[in-house]
Amino acid sequence: SDCLKTNELGHLEIGGCDCTELAREYGTPLYVMDEGLIRGNCRAYKGAMDKYYGGNGMVLFASKAFCTMAMCRIAQQEGLGLDVVSGGELYTALKAGFPMDRVYFHGNNKTIEEIELAIDSDIKRIVVDNKEELLKINAVAAQKGKTADVSFRIKPGIDAHTHDFVRTGQIDSKFGVALENGEALEIVSMACGLSNIRVAGVHCHIGSQIFDLKPFELAAQVMLQFIALVKERLGLEIEELNLGGGFGIKYIPQHDPIEYESYIESVSKTVRDLCEDMKIKQPFMVMEPGRSIVGPAGITLYTVGAVKDIKDVRKYVSVDGGMCDNPRYALYQSEYDSVLANRADAPKAQKLTVAGKCCESGDILIKDIHMPEIKEGDLLAVLATGAYNYSMSSNYNRIPRPPVVLVKDGRYRLIVKREDFEDIIRNDIIPEDL
Ligand code: LLP
Repeated sequence: SDCLKTNELGHLEIGGCDCTELAREYGTPLYVMDEGLIRGNCRAYKGAMDKYYGGNGMVLFASKAFCTMAMCRIAQQEGLGLDVVSGGELYTALKAGFPMDRVYFHGNNKTIEEIELAIDSDIKRIVVDNKEELLKINAVAAQKGKTADVSFRIKPGIDAHTHDFVRTGQIDSKFGVALENGEALEIVSMACGLSNIRVAGVHCHIGSQIFDLKPFELAAQVMLQFIALVKERLGLEIEELNLGGGFGIKYIPQHDPIEYESYIESVSKTVRDLCEDMKIKQPFMVMEPGRSIVGPAGITLYTVGAVKDIKDVRKYVSVDGGMCDNPRYALYQSEYDSVLANRADAPKAQKLTVAGKCCESGDILIKDIHMPEIKEGDLLAVLATGAYNYSMSSNYNRIPRPPVVLVKDGRYRLIVKREDFEDIIRNDIIPEDL
């Protein structure tokens, strides 16, 4: 990745910081995030929106990929909006002082409390998932004497050829309303009749870790056709088109992602051309990348423990973290690359499997990777762990979560503290009568 290099000591460096020094300072496992690369990615997206779509749009950071208060601050400073999907993510943004007029609230099953928090906070947009939810939002807004600006999560029915678990644009999906059976038109029509709802936009998200431009262009086309249909049938001009996130990143050398700007460039062109053909007004355009903003900017440092060479079968190198800090192999068989951080220039000499320390056979981080000779005490860096690692971490086996350190120009500082055993038992109760 762009933020990594090997220094004169043969140590891996990220953001100008020696990984062995970071490990000494904070211990392992340790998440390290390169601030320069995160900001660079934010700027690439925002710059492309300005350049290719005349600034008539907004790029949101999908906070689910890495939601912390410091990250909210970075997104704010870079002029991005924020996509939140829960009360917890919204609360994080609120506490970080993130401007609420740049927050979009997603989710397929928002609670009344979450809807209340969203409306009380005057966020920019609630993305409605279904009819029942629309009625709840209208009722809460009415109660508070406010109008909720909403958009609708639509299933464009596009197969973006990604892993089943992360495919969300299909008909058989728990997210949103379908186009086919008239469901989408029906919910928009219903919203037009509600006193405390203002229809602002439509939204779709076709999947994640996509390497292709085509599915995005197709999604834009399908969604614009719907906007045209709404105009024709309901006489309503939908002003905002949100095309979601999903842009792929390089986890392993074989991955070949497209420059991030290209997504916005190509979709902008598609949208402009189609609007002209269909004689509809160019909508305000929203994109919501998560993974591609933070994924490549993060690494996780682990200390090597037990090394088990099962003759003619497999060599297991166990580290001091695992599926509790990175469940993505266990969940999706995701692939990762790794570097021996304390001897980054050592030649690859063997094939091994990096395993975690959780009590579960499936607790693997990387299966069958070529690495240098490794022994107990070595420092391993797993690369491109900036997205959906910290945010999907757990306390399985009562393992405290690692801290997150932000690095830039040779400086480092903590943005999430390491959990300790006190944190682990914080909410435990032994009832009096037990
Ligand atoms: N917008 C919506 C409505 C989404 O559902 C998502 C991701 C995004 C934006 C951001 O997508 P991104 O640019 O990060 O691909 N846990 C999985 C990924 C789940 C993505 C869910 N939705 C993983 O670790 O691969």
